[in-house]
Amino acid sequence: MKRTVLIAVLILSAWAPSRADEGMWLPALISRRIDDMGAKGAHLSAEDIYSINRASLKDAVVLFGSGCTGELVSDSGLLLTNHHCGYSFIQRHSSVEHDYLKDGFWAGCRRDELPNPGLTVSFLERMEDVTAAVLAGYDESMPEAARDSIVARNSAALIKHASDPSKGVKARVEALYYANQYYLFVYRVYRDVRLVGAPPSSIGKFGGDTDNWMWPRHTGDFSIFRIYADADNNPADYSPENVPYVPRKFFRINRGGVKDGDFTLVYGCPGSTREYVMSEEVRYIGEVSDPRKIALRTLRLDIQKKYMAQSQAVRIQYSSKNANVANAWKKWQGESGGIRRLGTVAAKQEYERRFEQWAKGTRYEGLMARLGALYARREPYYLAYEYLNETVRSIEILRFASGVRTALKAGRPVQGLADSFFKDYFQPIDEETFAALMNAFGKDMPEDFQPEYFKRKLASYGSIEAWRDDLFARTLFTDRARVCALDSPEGLSGDPALEMFDAFDSWYTQSLLPVIRDVAKELKQANREYMKAQMEFEPQKEFYPDANLTLRVAYGKVAGYSPADAVQYAPVSTLKGIMEKDNPDVFDYDVPQALRDIYAAGGCENQPVCFLATNHTSGGNSGSPVLDADGNLVGINFDRVWEGTMSDLVFDPDYCRNISLDIRYLLFVVERIGGAAWLLDEMVFTY
Ligand code: ARG
Ligand code: ASP
Repeated sequence: MKRTVLIAVLILSAWAPSRADEGMWLPALISRRIDDMGAKGAHLSAEDIYSINRASLKDAVVLFGSGCTGELVSDSGLLLTNHHCGYSFIQRHSSVEHDYLKDGFWAGCRRDELPNPGLTVSFLERMEDVTAAVLAGYDESMPEAARDSIVARNSAALIKHASDPSKGVKARVEALYYANQYYLFVYRVYRDVRLVGAPPSSIGKFGGDTDNWMWPRHTGDFSIFRIYADADNNPADYSPENVPYVPRKFFRINRGGVKDGDFTLVYGCPGSTREYVMSEEVRYIGEVSDPRKIALRTLRLDIQKKYMAQSQAVRIQYSSKNANVANAWKKWQGESGGIRRLGTVAAKQEYERRFEQWAKGTRYEGLMARLGALYARREPYYLAYEYLNETVRSIEILRFASGVRTALKAGRPVQGLADSFFKDYFQPIDEETFAALMNAFGKDMPEDFQPEYFKRKLASYGSIEAWRDDLFARTLFTDRARVCALDSPEGLSGDPALEMFDAFDSWYTQSLLPVIRDVAKELKQANREYMKAQMEFEPQKEFYPDANLTLRVAYGKVAGYSPADAVQYAPVSTLKGIMEKDNPDVFDYDVPQALRDIYAAGGCENQPVCFLATNHTSGGNSGSPVLDADGNLVGINFDRVWEGTMSDLVFDPDYCRNISLDIRYLLFVVERIGGAAWLLDEMVFTY
């Protein structure tokens, strides 16, 4: 009787759509999810999403550069991605006479489009399970090193066979499920990609780092490119003779927009997640690493903020540095907070107890203990390494000194390096940061983990401050003229900044690295076992592989969330919100006059700008197409909310939300701000 009930429950739960929208699925295996997608409102077949026989949605998605996603929106190679993905290319075309970053750029016709040497876009031609071929010749009795060399040799052969450099066809073998499976990914890489349009930063980066990882959001985070090909539509180096690429497939645009509850699909290239690791790794990240790094960065940010508030010049010097430090700082807060709120460590421990029960008498008996011991062994060394990065390697003068020496050793001139360093250097910030970070190092690092050099310095000076004062007084690297006069690295070794940098560096290579490297090797093997074991432990569960910048499908729905008691966020933001934030005195909120004028003329306060959805995304999904139930384009993904950034380790349907640009805001900006309606003429709308 009990058994029948259990079976009935199992059958029902297998049929019922899963509650959560967790998952970054492999396109080639999407047929396994297609019923669930249908139950959630999609009208797409597996072949619509991924096919090697006919044009499918995958043919309109590209890996943009080496860390973002982009999508095709016309039969003439027109491509959309984020502003922050195109940023460095827009910057490279900018100068004082034409500051495209600040003012935006709009090609008036195809001839005006700007080439970007080095920029590539990669189309996925096909993906294929090659596990058997990669592991041919390997059996489990062999040592790990033998496995590595067999995998390397077999992969190289597969890659060679699948590649065709003359046609721009490149192949890669990727390990999935912690190297329990291998897939061959065959790409066609186009390398003549031109800049077509970008809004001014006051639209494309509106809200800046103040609004980064946040809702409500009003960033017009897009830029427009075009792919060019040779006369046969094949990849080619830049040439004025090249013609717009004709894609196998491009997205039609749904101007009808989105509303709460609508199905959404994100098709793109998430970079890195760790959903199946042991509780110990999550505990380390959520309870040790993130909080410590947040505290160290808070020290830096507070010092920067103090001086930035006192001087406009310093504010400009440190705004970009401040932004970089703040991006991960904010993400870590959401990550550790989310892990705490969800009780992820305890939940994983509970899972691990059940797993161990099951594993008794199997080859996996003792695996948890082994993994636990590896993490325990690694922890103090890894933490010390993270401290090194967040303290010594974050002191500007030390990094600069090392960079100058590297340039001198390579025979490169140091003038340019010095120019860009001193342009944005304010020594009082660095001195105060030195003291704050090194005091934290001394306080937080257990005695037996402190380098001898550090102890010696502290003993001889009596305090970090005295050490610092002497270092800054004696180093030549604070003196622009003396740095520029250098023409060889000879005689630099006595400099106190370099001496300190080097002392910590050898501490790293001699005392930390050997253990970190050793444990990493064993962890790789143990995690492979653990992944395999989990799949055997829960045979009815559908596992998606952790992200590794390969193409994935995530589906969910448009939805707001409640970030705190009595607070409820609606899922769509509008132009009205931009005007509410407008403040000419706040750089991040200084709305361009053209937009103010359009707004003042009336009729567009309800213009949608961004929307929230429940798609499981990660870094790398920036620029990804957001599709409706029929596979038409409704948005461009660009961020997540900070309260949900633990989604790289554990997904919470209540808090994890991706943030997308509403495609209608792109159309609005292109036409009304850019005056580039000619681009809309080549797009295809669903009505
Ligand atoms: N937080 C987003 C992502 O990680 C956007 C970053 C770029 N925008 C910014 N304001 N820094 O990567
Ligand atoms: N902003 C990220 C990116 O640049 C996306 C994310 O982390 O959600 O890829």
